[in-house]
Amino acid sequence: MLVAPSILSADFGKLGEEVKAICEDGCDLVHVDVMDGHFVPNLTIGPVVVSTVAKVASRPLDIHLMVENNAFFVDLFAPFDPEYISFHIEEEKHPHRLIQKIRSLGIKPAIALNPHTPPEAIEFILADVDMVLLMSVNPGFGGQKFIPSVVEKAKRLKAMITKHNPNCLIEVDGGVNDNNVSILKEAGVDIVVAGSFVFGEAKGYAHAIASLK
Ligand code: DX5
Ligand code: ZN
Repeated sequence: MLVAPSILSADFGKLGEEVKAICEDGCDLVHVDVMDGHFVPNLTIGPVVVSTVAKVASRPLDIHLMVENNAFFVDLFAPFDPEYISFHIEEEKHPHRLIQKIRSLGIKPAIALNPHTPPEAIEFILADVDMVLLMSVNPGFGGQKFIPSVVEKAKRLKAMITKHNPNCLIEVDGGVNDNNVSILKEAGVDIVVAGSFVFGEAKGYAHAIASLK
């Protein structure tokens, strides 16, 4: 299992040190939650802060857009050379066009699905993406309770991926901890995002990250 700690749960008073610490402590990706106060009822970080994160991170960035006007935000964050940019299918009228735009910038395109969205919603664009992000909470906040229906969704998506695009990865985001990670692994999930579990672990980030692998 690959592990992408969400910096949303980091101490923003020492964000640079926090990002360095998770990278040194074994994370695979640095998950950056971008919220605009419109698509979701929360507002987080923009390019000024992400430029600092990008400078100190020794692991690739995984940018999760939870915004309206996706194309505008892709242009804002592309200069930081992220590995992935994911956008929500619920908020995009022209997902195929946006996927092409992200790829043309040298970034791996990914699509995020809210808890209510079936995997079949992306069947005809699955071949064009490198990752699908399944939300296991409602997007907007860290520290929420895991929604277990994501397990069945991941299994259905895995079957579709095997048929249409075997290299595509499945990422699950929200409420992930050392209790539910094994059932996600069995369902075919490749990457877990974990915010409050990693940054709230009293035994340290390395212990938390290792317990999810
Ligand atoms: C929620 C974000 C998640 C969140 C994860 O909208 O996309 O990445 O920060 O945090 P935890 O692991 O605390 O649910
Ligand atoms: Zn996220």
